[in-house]
Amino acid sequence: MPLPSPTDDITRGLNQRPASISPKYFYDQHGSELFEEITRLPEYYPTRTETALMQQHADGIARAVGPGGTLIELGAGNCQKARTLCRLVQPACFVGVDISADFLQAAVQGLRDDFPGLDARAVGGDMTQGVVLPADIPRKGRLVFYPGSSIGNFDPPHALELLAHMRELIDDDGGLLIGIDLPKDVQVLEAAYDDAAGVTAAFNRNVLTHVNRLIGSDFDVQQWQHRAFFNQEESRIEMHLEALADADVRWPGGARRFDQGERIHTENSYKYPLPVFTDMLARAGFSRAQAWTDDRGWFAVLHARP
Ligand code: TRP
Repeated sequence: MPLPSPTDDITRGLNQRPASISPKYFYDQHGSELFEEITRLPEYYPTRTETALMQQHADGIARAVGPGGTLIELGAGNCQKARTLCRLVQPACFVGVDISADFLQAAVQGLRDDFPGLDARAVGGDMTQGVVLPADIPRKGRLVFYPGSSIGNFDPPHALELLAHMRELIDDDGGLLIGIDLPKDVQVLEAAYDDAAGVTAAFNRNVLTHVNRLIGSDFDVQQWQHRAFFNQEESRIEMHLEALADADVRWPGGARRFDQGERIHTENSYKYPLPVFTDMLARAGFSRAQAWTDDRGWFAVLHARP
């Protein structure tokens, strides 16, 4: 199925009730910079907890994975996490997959410079649409790497589908290394997505600037407020933009009136209890899983095998 154009995709979401904007539009240049800033915020525990877990259990991870295979990172970005993991598991081949292929090319070149002899490749593609890897990527000892609790940004049926797709990328000797965020105190969760410095608020509002540029709409960004809260029933953080006043938004070929207090849903971040997630892994074809968690039980890194 051909992908809808950004314009069709965005205007369809804006016309829905309630309205929504796909989280993929967060990541223009400024959005990507703000996101990197989020990962360094004191309230945003996932990135540093995951990094610490991987450092602390480096030996266990290296033993579970084994050297000489092919490391495939989904959403590889600046390849910073890949660099650490390559040092740890010493793969023969690295494949970085990301939507923004140019940015990725440069990062993969950096990896080649740092790891002489590593066969490092960049593959442009939206993994949510199913990744097609070049035919000459070795199949032996593949490890799919999906860090950062990114799986939590999909609703559970879609997350299951993605995990099943990851299973198809590997043979029976392969594995998956994945990070997930766990349920915890609501205040801790909500602070992580609504920090005191307002970086997450700026990140959320920036989607409107990006949308204005993409579809020619006239959102007045200052008139929209960042809202982030934990939805207990769904076990997810929800991010929304809420109109501070009535707003008439126009774009070529369309318009939408928003009442004061009306919201645009921009993202979810699901928090899975470990047994719920390992069950999902099993349904996706990963029946054996080993998990590492921090002392507070806030985050988990799992190595899953068929
Ligand atoms: N997947 C991570 C999470 O849900 C990172 C992330 C994606 C994020 N979108 C975000 C963090 C928006 C803060 C705000 O936590």
